[in-house]
Amino acid sequence: MSTLRTDRRLLSTHLSEDKTQTTTTVGNNNNKKITIRDIRKKCRQRLPISMVTAYDYCSAKQVDRAGIDIVLVGDSLGMVMLGQSGTADVTMDQMVHHCRAVRQGSRRSFIVADMPFGSYEISQSRALANAIRLVKEGGAEAVKLEGVGGHRQLMTIRAIIGAGIPVMGHIGLTPQSSGQFGGFRVQGRLASQALGIVDDALALQEAGCFAVVIEMVPQVVGTEIARLLRIPTIGIGAGNGTDGQVLVYHDMLGMYADFVPKFCRQYARLSSTIHEALVQYRSEVESRQFPVAADHTFAMKDTEEMDKFLTGVAAKCSHHSSDSTGSTCSSSSASVLRVTDDNKSINHAISGTVSDSSNSSVNDTLALVADRTVISSSAMNDNNSCDNSNDRQYLINNVKVGDEQQRRGPKVVVIGGGAMGSLFSAKLAAQGSSDVWMVSSWREHVEAINRDGLKLYNIHDQRETVRSVRATLDGMEVLSDGRQPDVCLVLVKSHSTEKASETASTLVGHNPQAIVVTLQNGVGNREQISATLDKCGYSNRVCQGVTNNGAFMLGPGAVRHTGSGLTYLASSAVAAPGGADDDNNNNELSFGEFASLLTTAGIDSQLSTDEDSLVWSKVVVNAAINPLTALMGVTNGYLLRHDYPRRMMRRLIAEGMHVCRAKGVQLVYGDDLDQAYDYVAQVVERTSGNLSSMLRDVLRGQPTEIQAINGQIVKEGERLDVSVEYNKQVMDMLLTGQFINV
Ligand code: KIV
Repeated sequence: MSTLRTDRRLLSTHLSEDKTQTTTTVGNNNNKKITIRDIRKKCRQRLPISMVTAYDYCSAKQVDRAGIDIVLVGDSLGMVMLGQSGTADVTMDQMVHHCRAVRQGSRRSFIVADMPFGSYEISQSRALANAIRLVKEGGAEAVKLEGVGGHRQLMTIRAIIGAGIPVMGHIGLTPQSSGQFGGFRVQGRLASQALGIVDDALALQEAGCFAVVIEMVPQVVGTEIARLLRIPTIGIGAGNGTDGQVLVYHDMLGMYADFVPKFCRQYARLSSTIHEALVQYRSEVESRQFPVAADHTFAMKDTEEMDKFLTGVAAKCSHHSSDSTGSTCSSSSASVLRVTDDNKSINHAISGTVSDSSNSSVNDTLALVADRTVISSSAMNDNNSCDNSNDRQYLINNVKVGDEQQRRGPKVVVIGGGAMGSLFSAKLAAQGSSDVWMVSSWREHVEAINRDGLKLYNIHDQRETVRSVRATLDGMEVLSDGRQPDVCLVLVKSHSTEKASETASTLVGHNPQAIVVTLQNGVGNREQISATLDKCGYSNRVCQGVTNNGAFMLGPGAVRHTGSGLTYLASSAVAAPGGADDDNNNNELSFGEFASLLTTAGIDSQLSTDEDSLVWSKVVVNAAINPLTALMGVTNGYLLRHDYPRRMMRRLIAEGMHVCRAKGVQLVYGDDLDQAYDYVAQVVERTSGNLSSMLRDVLRGQPTEIQAINGQIVKEGERLDVSVEYNKQVMDMLLTGQFINV
C-alpha cells in the first residue's frame, strides 16, 4: 500500500490531464447503446455519469427510457426487493434471475451486476465462474465487487478482467461487510482512514477496474479520489465532486415512506401515490364503481348475439329454478335489465332503485331523519313505488299549463353537469313528464350526452340510456326552443355558484313564474343566487334544499347512482309562487309540485320548514368527514377505524354544534355531542368504502368546497366568538396542501 501512496502524486498529474481532455461531447439522448468507451469518454470530457439501480424488467425499462448511462443490478435487491435487513444473504441465483429481467428491459444503458457476498472471496476460479455466469446467464456487461480485500482479491479482479469482463470497484462503505464497520456508517472521517480509502481506489485502478463506486465518505474524500483517479468515480453519499452519481431506485423514487438515507434526494414520493391509487381502487371495487361498463368491459358481438345469450341464460335459469341455486337466477334477470334499454326494463330498474331507498347507502351526504320539520308533499305518494302514474296526473292537472307544456311537462334546466347534476337530469328525463336541459361546461360530457344519450347506472349496476336530456355548454341555447324554463335546478360546486347564478338569472330572471332550487353543498349558495336574481327583482323564488343521494361520474355521458336518500326543499323560507302548498291558480310550478315531480322521477322529496336546520345539519356532518378524508387520502371508513381521525371528527363536530347553538339553529340530530357523533359515525359506516367528494377533488387537482363547509363554520364562529380552531386548522391545511401521511 505504501508504494501506492508514493505514486499518488505522479498518477494524479498524469490522470487529471486525462480527465480534462475535451473533445466532442457525448450526448445521452440518443438511442445508441452505451458502451464502456462512452463511459470513459464522458469522464474524460467531464460530463457527469448517471447510474441507478434496477432489479426487474419494469424498473430497467424506466431507467433506460430516462437516458441513464449505467443500470446497476445491485445486491441491494436483497433489501429493497426481498425485504432482507442487509445484502449478505443475496445468492448468485438471485442475482442471475434479476439481472436477466433487467437485461430484458434495457436497450441502451450499460448493465453492471453486483457479485454477491460469497461469490468471489473463496477462490479465484469460483469468482471467475460466477462473473462469467452473470455475463452469460444474466446478460451483464460488467460486474462490480466490493472492497479491495488485499492482494488476493486484486488478483481475482485481474483474472476476471483477464477473462474479458470489465470490473467496477466499490469502496468506502461496502454494505456486504457493513457488520465489520458496525452498520451503515460514513467511512473515512479520520484522515488515516480516508487515506486508506484513497489507496484502495488507486489499487483498484491499478488492478484494471474501469470505474469505481465510492459510498458514504465525506465530500472532500470523494472529490479528492475523483481528482486522483484516471478512471470514472461514481459516488453515492460521496458529495458532488465525483465523476458520476448512483442512487438506489426505490430510495430516489420514494417507494418506502419510512426511510430515506441522508444522502438521497427523493425525486418522487411514489409510496403515497401508489397508496392512494390502491386505496381508491379497493374502494371502487368495493362500491362497484370499477369497472365502468362504458369503458372497461367487452360487449357481445351484436345485440342479436346478446339476445340469444340472454334467452339461453333465462332458459337455464328456469330449468334450474327449483334447485338450491335459485339465487343465480335472480342475478341473471338483473343482467337482463342491465343490458336492455326498453321502457319496461327501465321502469323495473327505476322501481328497484326507489324501493331500495329505505336501506340506502348514501355518498358523502347525510340521511336526514328528523321529520319534525317536514311537511310531507308526498302524502299523495304513499306506496313509495315508482308506478306513479297517478302522481303524474296530479301534477299535470294541478299545474295549469298551456297545450305545449301539458304535452311536454315542465321545462327543467339543471345547471351543472357533475355527478349530481347528471343524476337529477337523467332521473327527471327518464321519468318522461318533464322537458330536461342540462347546462355544463364539460365539453366531452355535453357532446357524449347529445350524441349517445346520458347513461345512468342505478345502485344495482343496471344501465338505462336516457336520450331526452338536451345538454349545452351555452345557457342561452336553452331558450332556443322558444319555451321559458319553469325550474332552474342549481347543482354546481359552491365555488361556481356565482357563474351558475348568472346563468339562472339569464334563464329565469324575466319569467315571474319560474322557480330556482339549489341542492348544493355548504352554506351561502341560496343567498348568493338570490342576490344575483335580486337584481331582476325575483329573489323570492329561490329555494334551498339538501339531497341525500350519492352519485359518481363514470366518464363523459355516464353517471352512477351510488346511494339514495331523501331530498328536502326548504320552501317555507321563501315566498314561493303560489306558496309552498297553496292552491295555485297560475301557470306556476310551486316548490311542493317540484318536490312531487322529483318523487315521481324516483328521487324521494319532501318540503321542510327550516332551511337553517337542513343546511347546517349537513354542513356539520360534511365538515367532520370530508376534510379529514381529503387530508389523509383515505376512504370514509378509515376515519372510524383509527384514533386520531375519530378524535378530530369529534372536535370538528363539537365546534360546528357550538356555532349552531350560538346561531339558534336546531340540528336534526339534536344538541348532544355523543348523539351527534353517533349520527356522523352512522353516515361514515354507511359510506365506508366511498371516497368523499373533497378527496376526489384533491385527487383531481380541483378546488374543494372547504370554504363553503368548514369555512362557514369558521366564519360564523369568529363572528359569534365561538372557538373554531380545529375547523380553521383543517381548512388551512387543505388550502395550503399540508396532507397527512397515514
Ligand atoms: O447494491 C447496490 O445497490 C449498490 C449501490 C448502493 C451502489 O451497490
